[in-house]
Amino acid sequence: MAKKTPLLKVDGIHKRYGDRVALAGVSLTVAPGETVAVMGPSGCGKSTLLRCIVRLTDWDKGEIYFDGRPVGPMDHGAIRALRRQIGFVFQHFQLIERLSVLDNVLLGLVLGGMDRRAAEKRALAALRRVRLEHEHSLRPAELSGGQRQRVAIARALAMEPRLMLWDEPTAALDPVLVGEVLDIMEELANDRKTGMLVVTHEVRFARHAADRVIILDRGRVLEEGPPEQVFGNPRSYVGRQYRRLLVG
Ligand SMILES: Nc1ncnc2c1ncn2[C@@H]1O[C@H](COP(=O)(O)OP(=O)(O)O)[C@@H](O)[C@H]1O
Ligand SMILES: [Mg+2]
Repeated sequence: MAKKTPLLKVDGIHKRYGDRVALAGVSLTVAPGETVAVMGPSGCGKSTLLRCIVRLTDWDKGEIYFDGRPVGPMDHGAIRALRRQIGFVFQHFQLIERLSVLDNVLLGLVLGGMDRRAAEKRALAALRRVRLEHEHSLRPAELSGGQRQRVAIARALAMEPRLMLWDEPTAALDPVLVGEVLDIMEELANDRKTGMLVVTHEVRFARHAADRVIILDRGRVLEEGPPEQVFGNPRSYVGRQYRRLLVG
């Protein structure tokens, strides 16, 4: 049977900063609509990996393919087109404080050439998905941290990306606000419309929402498999540590 082209394929990526090795030959795939959780200790290369995928960082060896096309040789125009198809949600949501919630969400669409009416419609639909349509005229400063992060998610969703990259989206939030963001992420994962590569330490999210879990350590894939396997019967020390978090 012919295998479907993965949406994302990372093939043996190496990256070093001076003598410091950030990625030591990482390979992984994300299928269309699939959710893959990436976990691992601080400094193991998670953010570097995400940055390489959208060419915010260049790597030394290996290749990354989006929809079968190599990302490494892309010129500026192709990189811009690539980034329109890949949504990015960071730990620190950078909203524009002087713009309303709605304008924050539709800005990317208008800059991409969409007329304001159509952009508003799409932005409101995206805000509905994160349950913030009633807050559309507020300024970011009037929102809680969890709501602000949900606006950042809506902003990414409004672009209708085929892949979403999440870099510890709940790490900077007050513990009581983490749940509302994880709920939205879990809904998006269940929708299966968008491929998602989610860097997170939230083992409960990874267990419930991820199709696969990848554990990185010192720039390498240490362990990979369905959550039941990785958390139920971890082979690695890092995997066992995450399992302990689940058992409590
Ligand atoms: N811009 C940079 N310059 C130098 N070293 C960096 C840079 N970015 C990351 N590193 C190093 O690369 C390694 C991986 O970092 P990072 O990808 O941020 O890890 P993680 O996101 O898993 O915490 C770390 O040792 C980090 O110090
Ligand atoms: Mg990081």
